[in-house]
Amino acid sequence: MADLRNEINKRRTFAIISHPDAGKTTLTEKFLLYGGAITLAGAVKGKKSAKHAVSDWMEIEKQRGISVTSSVMQFNYDGYCINILDTPGHQDFSEDTYRTLMAADSAVMVIDAAKGVEPQTRKLFKVCVMRDIPIFTFINKMDRDALSPYDLLDEIEKELGIGTYPMNWPIGSGKEFKGVYDREAGEIITFEATGGSREVAANKIDLEDESLADTLGEELYSTLRDDVELLDGAGYELDLDKVRHGKLSPVFFGSALTNFGVEPFLKHFLKMTSSPLPRKTSETEVDPFSNDFSAFVFKIQANMNKAHRDRIAFIRLCSGKFEKGMEVTHVQQGKKIKLAQPQQMMAQSREIIDEAYAGDIIGVFDPGIFSIGDTLCTGRRVQFEGIPTFAPEYFCRVQQKDTMKRKQFVKGVTQIAQEGAIQIFQEVASGMEEVIVGVVGTLQFDVFKYRMENEYNVEIRMENLPYSYIRWIDNEEIDLKKLNLTSDTKKVQDMKGRFLLLFSNQWSIDWALDHNKGLMLSDFSK
Ligand code: G4P
Repeated sequence: MADLRNEINKRRTFAIISHPDAGKTTLTEKFLLYGGAITLAGAVKGKKSAKHAVSDWMEIEKQRGISVTSSVMQFNYDGYCINILDTPGHQDFSEDTYRTLMAADSAVMVIDAAKGVEPQTRKLFKVCVMRDIPIFTFINKMDRDALSPYDLLDEIEKELGIGTYPMNWPIGSGKEFKGVYDREAGEIITFEATGGSREVAANKIDLEDESLADTLGEELYSTLRDDVELLDGAGYELDLDKVRHGKLSPVFFGSALTNFGVEPFLKHFLKMTSSPLPRKTSETEVDPFSNDFSAFVFKIQANMNKAHRDRIAFIRLCSGKFEKGMEVTHVQQGKKIKLAQPQQMMAQSREIIDEAYAGDIIGVFDPGIFSIGDTLCTGRRVQFEGIPTFAPEYFCRVQQKDTMKRKQFVKGVTQIAQEGAIQIFQEVASGMEEVIVGVVGTLQFDVFKYRMENEYNVEIRMENLPYSYIRWIDNEEIDLKKLNLTSDTKKVQDMKGRFLLLFSNQWSIDWALDHNKGLMLSDFSK
């Protein structure tokens, strides 16, 4: 029992989110270095070299330089057991990011100091704020010319609607970057550029030290004094309660590549975040320290390893302990099952594991029985709150080019939809000869086409459809034929047989509601 408590108490599970190229992979790599999970800088990253980031599983990611799928890694550091969830770096995959955030207890947001909040990630970052989990900001690349720290904080506050609290303050940037002022300790940590594989010798000088003006130079010294006065004068306290509820983000300035400020960030972060907290179920809450095991599926991924044609369900443990060979209840199917091939992702490999604890993320073999949001448990039956589906905004009609490949076509489309990488719809009462694919961001179309061709060996034809809005019909009994709709409204069905309407504009939605008494529409599936 004490063991269970200790193990869970040392768990920290967080997602890392950033713009493509802001430095997420580099920062993750440095974390892993500290944890001793890898020994060589560059082992994780190196897009331009022959090696690829461990988390970049799919060919398309490497080609386009974006992280399409999320992956997960575990390592130990300073007495903590840390699970990092990587997320896609483009807002077109914000639904995937949202699902990943469901499995995380907090998030680290990496921002490029020269770019601030970038347009293609605005939506992604907002998704982070929607979850109300603690968000820690790492403003990276201070060794390059950066925007003013005031402007950066202002932008985060305005764009994301979240408060900021600088934990440290940069002194200059680019060639003039001298280090950061640690507000809590009241001292300056001076920057020295090294190759970057190890932590730079952290040289500390007290703010009141007389030699400081010489070290920094007159101009930077006087700017720093003004900045410190301004920050302290503003009188904001670091309100940990606000941090825990995702209303205030502690901000750290640093440089992942040169390894400056990474370890202090990690240390503060681990101290300020909590171990796994109770999780909401449909009826009550589950205590992570309960003896009963419980978990939910937040991600399904097929063909992670092309040679094995495997399909893995990623589950987040919410309470108790998982033991290999254990029998659990799959709540949605009402069946007892054994979780096969339980595995954890280490820095560079997957390893079969014997046990895992609340807070951990593990992958289990999926013979095609799991759906996103499913609950697994032992003991008293519980059901975690589902993971919402985002309303798709782009639609496209998809057909196979070679009619002989019907079987592979259906398999590919269905599996990719089950993973949640796309949503699929059909014309009412039609077969699977053609499907309507809906996505939240158009890059998902590219990934879908690429995967159909490379994983399922089916060439497809895609035709864009002019719809932008989708509404599920909530009325249980409805005669679709009798609906009075504008000519540009389309009736479709989803995988579960529910009826939906596709609209091109808001006007047509209003028309449908005005002309069909009692019609009930909702913009998400229940
Ligand atoms: P991502 O995962 O968020 O997409 O970013 P990634 O870590 O791959 O970093 C993107 C680029 O930014 C890389 O350069 C990386 O070396 C660089 N970078 C990361 N952190 C810092 C930093 O603190 N300072 C500076 N100056 N650069 C940084 P690249 O040229 O695209 O790749 P590579 O040649 O280093 O492999």
